This record gives sequence, structure tokens and C-alpha cells, in this order.
Amino acid sequence: MKVTVIGAGAVGATCADNIALKELCNELVLLDIKEGIAEGKAQDMMQTATLLGFDTKITGSTNDYSKTAGSDVVVITSGLPRKPGMTREELIGVNTGIVKTVCENVLKHSPNAIIIVISNPMDTMTYLALQSTNLPKHRIIGMGGTLDSARFKYQLSQHLGCSPADLNAVVVGGHGDTTMIPLIRHATWNSTPVSRYLSTEQQEKIVKDTMVGGATLTALIGTSAWYAPGAAGAALVESILRDEKKLFTCCVSLEGEYGQKDICLGVPVIIGKNGWERILDFDLNESEKAAFQKSADAVRSMNDVLKTL
Ligand code: LAC
Repeated sequence: MKVTVIGAGAVGATCADNIALKELCNELVLLDIKEGIAEGKAQDMMQTATLLGFDTKITGSTNDYSKTAGSDVVVITSGLPRKPGMTREELIGVNTGIVKTVCENVLKHSPNAIIIVISNPMDTMTYLALQSTNLPKHRIIGMGGTLDSARFKYQLSQHLGCSPADLNAVVVGGHGDTTMIPLIRHATWNSTPVSRYLSTEQQEKIVKDTMVGGATLTALIGTSAWYAPGAAGAALVESILRDEKKLFTCCVSLEGEYGQKDICLGVPVIIGKNGWERILDFDLNESEKAAFQKSADAVRSMNDVLKTL
């Protein structure tokens, strides 16, 4: 198996490191446009192989896509990250050109690859990847909800005083501070609704803190986060390459599901060897449906900006 990670910034490098540690593939290529950075980080990671005990061969490339040829999965992290105070949406101008070019180059050498999009604004970049490549919809997966759901479980675990691993909780809708929808009514602690153990105020705080999870970290660190975004990308690669059929919330093309079409938005999906394989219907109530519609409206108006670029 072969995986390529495009972009050797903090998110891309962390994603690659996680993929190697889990030995998800025998060949891993890290590619960046900046001279030497991918080669350097790839060598640095390879020098941990004997210390951490993995066998994946990692190589770096400065924009030479021929090295990525025959990849089964390609993770796209390229583009500018957020600075403190910036929204993910403000990145659209620069990142659109980058993601479009990356997709073209990737497919020239790996026509059968499944593509995972991490670049922001993630919902619009996923839609752009789908539109510009014309690939079958199951092969384009936006990562956002996977990360947001992990952050949601973290927030819940802090209030419940429990292991995040015992929680089931998902965030649907867009990957934006105001567009994501942490579905707290559906969240369970080992199959018991979390609402049984949390006050209304606590639930409201958990939802609010989850929604601004990325912005909170950007303010603290000075740039956008990378450990959880990188790990979320690697978790999707794992479910694809091992055909695990795990349920993640991912940004995928909707054709009537959840009442939406001509849009990519976060919904619960099964991830396996064919990419995203099936959308699950979570039976939203009226207020959740209204929030989903509002989220779709916001993402759609961001997608409209693509036409003006
Ligand atoms: C975040 C970026 C990766 O949420 O979107 O941290």
C-alpha cells in the first residue's frame, strides 16, 4: 500500500508520522512545494523508525509528483493555516488555487486514489476537489467532522470525568466555528445518553467550547492546531486501508440525504476500502434539521465564492 501526504507543514507531517507509526502502508510520500522541507521531515521521521519500531518507508519530495505515483490514498493538507482571529473561511482565496492544482497533479500519477481533504475552508475545498476532478463521489472525503467529533468527545469527557474512548458523539454540518453542529442529544456514555449526567448549562458549554475548539487552539498556539487534525487524517487512512468500516463524520457529497444536494457537508459515514461507503441517517429532530439547513446555507454561500475566483 502507498499513501501520499501533500503539504509537510505541521498537520501534514503529524498525519504522516501517525500513518508511519501505525504502519498503515509500506510506502509513504510527503510532498511540499517549499524546497527541502518534505525531504528533511521525512528523514527526521525515518530516523525514529528504529526507536519507535516501524517499517514504513517515508520519502520526501519537493513538488515532484512522479514520486507519488500509484498512491492508494492521498491526504491534502496544503494551503495556508489560520492565524489568531482569522476564520477558516478567510483562507478561501489562496487555498482554492492551491487545492485545485494539487488535485490535478495527484490524479496525473495516482488516477485511482481516494482523496482526503484537510485544507480549509474544508467543506468548500472538498466541494472544489469533487467539482474540479469529477471523480466518483465516494473517493472524495473531507476530514472536518472527524476532528470536531474528537474534540466534542474530549469536552464531554472533561465534564463527565470519563475516558473519551467510552463516548459516542458526533459533530455534523460544516467545519466552521458557527456551522458545526455537535449533536449532544445523540451523544452517549457507554450507551446511556450523556444528558442524564450533565446539566443544561454544562451541555450548552460543551457544545459552545466544541464549536470554537479550533479557534481556541489557534489563539493559544499562534497558528492552527496539528496533533488532532493530523491524527484525524490518519484515522481515516487507517479505516480505508484496513477496510475497517468505522463510522466517522466526514464531509461528503450529498444528493438528497439530510435534505441537501449539490454540496459537501459533514454527515455520519462508513469509511472502508472504497472511500466513504454509506451515509447513515441519524433522524434529526426539527431544531437539529433547522441547524443543518442553516449550516448548509452558510457553506453554500462560501461555495458560491468559488465562481468568482
Ligand atoms: C482546526 C483546523 C485544522 O480545526 O481546521 O484545527
